[in-house]
Amino acid sequence: MKENTLTITDNRTNITYEFSIENNTINALDLRQIKVDKDDFGIMSYDPGYTNTAACSSKITFVDGDKGVLMYRGYPIEQLAEHSTFLEVAYLLIYGELPNKESLEHWEERVMHHTYIHENLAKLMQTFRYDAHPMGMLIGTIAAMSTLHPDAKDIHNPVSRQKQIWRLLGKLPTVAAFTYRRRIGRPYNYPDSSLSYTENLIYMMDYMNQGNYQVNPILAKALDTLFILHADHGQNCSTSVMRNIGSSYADPCSAMAGAAAALYGPLHGGANEAVLRMLTEIDKVDNIPGYIKQVKDGKLRLMGFGHRVYKNYDPRARIIKDIAEKVLEVTGRNPLLDIALELERIALEDDYFISRRLYPNVDFYSGIIYQAMGFPVDMFPVLFALGRAPGWLAQWLELIDDTDQRIARPRQVYTGQMKRNYVSLEQRN
Ligand code: CMC
Repeated sequence: MKENTLTITDNRTNITYEFSIENNTINALDLRQIKVDKDDFGIMSYDPGYTNTAACSSKITFVDGDKGVLMYRGYPIEQLAEHSTFLEVAYLLIYGELPNKESLEHWEERVMHHTYIHENLAKLMQTFRYDAHPMGMLIGTIAAMSTLHPDAKDIHNPVSRQKQIWRLLGKLPTVAAFTYRRRIGRPYNYPDSSLSYTENLIYMMDYMNQGNYQVNPILAKALDTLFILHADHGQNCSTSVMRNIGSSYADPCSAMAGAAAALYGPLHGGANEAVLRMLTEIDKVDNIPGYIKQVKDGKLRLMGFGHRVYKNYDPRARIIKDIAEKVLEVTGRNPLLDIALELERIALEDDYFISRRLYPNVDFYSGIIYQAMGFPVDMFPVLFALGRAPGWLAQWLELIDDTDQRIARPRQVYTGQMKRNYVSLEQRN
């Protein structure tokens, strides 16, 4: 018997098969050799939610959920959060290496050059209803971007792909800020490329004609670090959507609109919004035991807890907890932080959470920081989207260049009716 193989005996036929194992993985198509007779389709694996299916190979992000390790291109997230900037991390994710000084300057210049959006897009955003959710506006506007930049369809041209990357990263903060300004009924602030990526975002959202307006550097740095922590996370729900749409060779604006839509849900990027609503509902520390009881009775989920991959403390949550302390020194203490800290303490001692290996995830503390910085709750998933955008683009590029990739098309186990004849309306009961 060869090493690095898996031997399977089909007890229906007593036939034994040998499949090679590479990277701890067997090729799912090998299973199709297992048949009871020549007309049999062959065995498939059933995996709702893709909990144990590798849909691609990737060199971008390493996650060890059991040990609580996260690395981008081999660099530990803790080091990047401490020393790097969001745009530098975006470069690292997309091109695989940290840039030298010259490449970084060129990269920053190109991204900031693309921060202006087409006036049609700005006008389109004015047509959203006054109370439209910013995430809905973001998704719709990113999709509309593809109509203004038809060259984005030229996805097999590396020069065009490069341009779309600058373009999308440059324009997203502008669109995000405009969703906010639309909501509050204030005129748009147009981008200022003399500011850093994150400062420019805060400026576009915040500026109200103050004489000596300056972005608070501590808050800008905190937001920049939060974006680094969100920048990629392997094949999560929204990234898988980016890849799925990209696999049909749709343009990256359309693919990103889909990815952002996946991020919108409360089990994914909408969780930070849900955490804030949960903490507000709990209202005070005394109400925590009653809330935990409802969670354990299966009536509620503790938002910001649990993760498909992390079965240990999410390393991003640890860094975010420290950022929360720094931000609250500037903005003043947020009473919700006390509720969150106590909730975490109680949950981490409780057998329900211990036995299921449920720990705080990236969203547990990020909402508290966003709220302290003055962002309205429904902007939280938009901020997550801005952070995740470089990851989506890096994964999209990797997909396009990967000769193993084909259009995404999962199989199903059909459990419905087999053939039956049409019954006319008069004859139906
Ligand atoms: N509160 C209470 N119980 C939970 C929670 C939670 N937050 N998460 C999982 N469980 C329980 C669940 O009820 C199940 O228990 P049992 O075995 O008795 O049925 C067990 O833990 C396993 O849960 P699961 O739903 O099978 O786990 P999953 O891997 O499918 O779900 C998750 C992962 C993140 C969707 C889930 O943990 C969850 O809903 N968390 C709350 C939402 C949240 O914070 N999402 C943000 C995720 S991090 C950011 C991102 O990547 O998007």
